[in-house]
Amino acid sequence: VRTLRTPDELRAFLHNVREERRTVGLVPSMGAFHAGHEALITAAREACDVVVVSLFVNPTQFDDPTDLAAYPRTEADDAARAQELGADVLFAPETLYADDHATTITVAGLGDTLEGSERGPGHFAGVCTVVAKLFNLVGPDTAYFGAKDAQQVAVIKRMVRDLDMPVRIEVVDTVREPDGLALSSRNVRLAAGAREQALALHAALTAAEQAVEQGERNAVRVRDAALAAMRDYDVDPEYLAVVDPDSLSPLQTLNGRSLVAVAARVGGVRLIDNTLITTPGDSS
Ligand code: PAF
Repeated sequence: VRTLRTPDELRAFLHNVREERRTVGLVPSMGAFHAGHEALITAAREACDVVVVSLFVNPTQFDDPTDLAAYPRTEADDAARAQELGADVLFAPETLYADDHATTITVAGLGDTLEGSERGPGHFAGVCTVVAKLFNLVGPDTAYFGAKDAQQVAVIKRMVRDLDMPVRIEVVDTVREPDGLALSSRNVRLAAGAREQALALHAALTAAEQAVEQGERNAVRVRDAALAAMRDYDVDPEYLAVVDPDSLSPLQTLNGRSLVAVAARVGGVRLIDNTLITTPGDSS
């Protein structure tokens, strides 16, 4: 894998790729790779001629400076992993913002709820702006995102549609520990007791799925089942919501595709997870 540090180096590399009409897959990342990132890189490797993995801890999407400072930085390990998985380029710029950077992309509404209401509306503005910059720098045919960040997927898909960005968004399933905990770079910060309690999120989603399997379609009752499962772990959610996966509007009834999304702080570590439930027999 070649590590490139500047947009100019990246442009020079991609010039030949474009001349040869080879397809480009982009995996945007903030590094600290775990099996979730590996699944994204593998999906890109299988489908695209050239795989670019970006590694940039984007300061504009952090509302909390301590969270930004605590974010793990493991570039040498990440580069080795990217190499093993067959990535062609690791784009790891020092910065992506000019000192007088003044342009921000906001996806109104979609970016304000759930994570947006907990982390502030600046979070998704930061994500969208950096992702748009990466799309402009790399010009990928396809970009890969993890399903764990369901709201990020919804917001980016809307940005791409609204701004006619010529890129296909591919969503890759969440990778989990054997006991169900969704992989996250934050999991390493969970102390032993908190690691046990962190199962509350997956338990909530499983309880919601089971309620729906047993015929429940009322969103309040599905949510209640999920909430009860969390209480068994003595964890309160920051939010636990049953929403439309595209508009993120709250649902009253599960009909077709429904997203159950949860966030909770466990032992000082903020975790999120979600499940997409498709009710059988629906036409949508
Ligand atoms: O999901 C992430 O790691 C980040 O939000 C992203 C998409 C790389 C933007 O900084």
